[in-house]
Amino acid sequence: GRDGAREFDLTLRADGHSAFLPGKTTDTWGVNGAYLGPTIRARRGEHVRVAVTNLLPEASTLHWHGMRLPARMDGGPHQMIEPGATWIPEWTIEQGAMTSWYHPHPHERTALHVYRGVAGLFLIDDPAGPELPSRYGVDDVPLIIQDRTFEGDGQFDTNVLGGTYGLIGDTVLVNGTFDPYLEVGSSLVRFRLLNASNARVYRVGFADGRTFQAVATDSGLLEKPVPVDRVKISPGERCEIVVAFRAGETVIMNSVGEPRQTANDIEEDDFTLLKIVAGPELTRSAAVPATLGGTATTAPPAGSRVRRFTLSGSEINDRDMDMNRIDEVVPAGALEIWEIDNTTFAHNFHIHEVAFRILDVNGAPPPAYQAGPKDTVFLPKHATARLAVRFGRHTDPGWPYMYHCHILRHEDRGMMGQFVIV
Ligand code: C2O
Ligand code: CU
Ligand code: CU
Repeated sequence: GRDGAREFDLTLRADGHSAFLPGKTTDTWGVNGAYLGPTIRARRGEHVRVAVTNLLPEASTLHWHGMRLPARMDGGPHQMIEPGATWIPEWTIEQGAMTSWYHPHPHERTALHVYRGVAGLFLIDDPAGPELPSRYGVDDVPLIIQDRTFEGDGQFDTNVLGGTYGLIGDTVLVNGTFDPYLEVGSSLVRFRLLNASNARVYRVGFADGRTFQAVATDSGLLEKPVPVDRVKISPGERCEIVVAFRAGETVIMNSVGEPRQTANDIEEDDFTLLKIVAGPELTRSAAVPATLGGTATTAPPAGSRVRRFTLSGSEINDRDMDMNRIDEVVPAGALEIWEIDNTTFAHNFHIHEVAFRILDVNGAPPPAYQAGPKDTVFLPKHATARLAVRFGRHTDPGWPYMYHCHILRHEDRGMMGQFVIV
């Protein structure tokens, strides 16, 4: 733009036809194209302005999940865009390198809009960051993981969004592709995993059990790479991993469920996610640095304010979402402990605007690969999580941010609350 801002145009469309299944066509929604949307990216310190035009047949929003910005730019349920209208939020990128994403957030309609295909990635780059594989689509590959259920004629089945969890699809799409395949040409490849499913939880790893390195959580880099053989991601969560390949090999990325006795439906099933074929000769990648620049989790000082949230079937603190009620008022820049007590089946918990650290789940620290900055945390049934939450400084008593379960059925049923920063 003339003022030096980086400008993007995103148009929500409902006229897509996608060929997911062999010989069948699916009517889809998307951003700028038929299904999902473009990956947009900006650097720390840049000012961004996005023109979001809604060509859907109904009102919607576009929310910047993971972005720290003023509440009226957040794209939550208070920033509805009527059909045919354009909404133009702008803000300055104040956070470091991360993988964030955008998706609709209309109150009570989010599950359907995301299911039909409206979502995309927003990557933040930080020139001061560590050297990691970063050639987009070559050795830095986003993987947007979504389950779907198809009708016999190839359409998305929209009768499966009810019940306890809403959609628990039987078919997985990665980047909008059924049965995907990737050729790699370097010895190390970074994958940016995003769980953009309505409800399912994935435990991502490889069929041969190989270890790989986790380098970033939802909202930024870990302190140092963490060797793992599975990473668990619930809806809304991201995890960046770096995987080593040998020339000529074929590797299957998959998801393996939790044991049935301990898990809820959304955690149980196994899926093949991606077939990866390494070229006959691989470019040798620079090793992952021993330190990545993220910081370790430190406990908030004694006396920090503690807020408690009890999750039940579809309520938080025994209340449904009320667009006209502010549930929490938080001082600018506060560091607080949020204690999330899940009294029922599996949920997760997402907070807009903030970055938090998981202090503990059921009293134990999280696995090392989840010890970085987060905005969404999974809560197995009957689990309690304690979060150290750092709030931003965009004060506005008139516009709230949301916190909610990111299982979209639950969010739509009112498992959401509102806070303002003052
Ligand atoms: Cu991913 Cu309130 O959103
Ligand atoms: Cu969000
Ligand atoms: Cu939930």
